Amino acid sequence: MAANDNRHMIEVADPTALAATAAEHVLARTAANNGRVAICLTGGSSPRQLYQLLATEPYRSRIPWQRVHWFIGDERFVPAGDPLHNMSMARAAFLDQCAPAENIHPIPTATADPADPGRSAALYERELQSFYGADALDHDRPLFDLVLMGVGPDGHTASLFPGDPALDETARWVVGVPKANVAPFVPRVTLTLPTLASCREMMFEVAGADKRAILTRLFAAENLPANRARSTGETVWLVDRAAIPENFGGQ
Ligand code: 6PG
Repeated sequence: MAANDNRHMIEVADPTALAATAAEHVLARTAANNGRVAICLTGGSSPRQLYQLLATEPYRSRIPWQRVHWFIGDERFVPAGDPLHNMSMARAAFLDQCAPAENIHPIPTATADPADPGRSAALYERELQSFYGADALDHDRPLFDLVLMGVGPDGHTASLFPGDPALDETARWVVGVPKANVAPFVPRVTLTLPTLASCREMMFEVAGADKRAILTRLFAAENLPANRARSTGETVWLVDRAAIPENFGGQ
């Protein structure tokens, strides 16, 4: 991470330590806000251990479930309940056991037409705006307390893929992505960069040796989606030892 940006990296030993550190960030963000808390979850395999941890003690009883709302940063057009459905994975790992149903805000892909992901995107945008109480984001009043993110092998994050015009979207909060760059090759819906940025903290979780190649490119400041995703507040990269590129001195 360059010294002149608002991102910082926290190195942890392994995926277990990564999940525990991430869980502490979730607790800190819920404790810092005594009103309604909004957390934007991510899909992929990296956050699963964190999600499972949140449903267990000592975390579970420290989360004020009644006032925490759970959103998702991107969704894939697969049936609800499919293990590749991002919100279903989060539901199975912790939400269905812990969160009131009305506090879970999935992207409506299950009943929508995959040929028109823009329609689901527009519905979710409306839901986010109604939760926020305005249709323009105010820099001083972030939409989310915490946004969780992951990184794909091509440097994508959420469903913002390299070279996709969705990356340059500044007006819409949520967009349809007709074509994915990586598996599963199904249409997606994703929050846009300004929407994801509207948070007190954005936290990436990156673990495993198979992330080393993409982290090498990201740390070399390549213009990739994951390098363009920043919070207007704090941006934290939680990275486990196996994922750290060999020649990276840590900054
Ligand atoms: C998605 C994700 C995506 C994910 C990365 C990392 O729906 O595909 O939200 O952005 O976070 O691809 O995925 P892994 O955690 O599985 O490596």
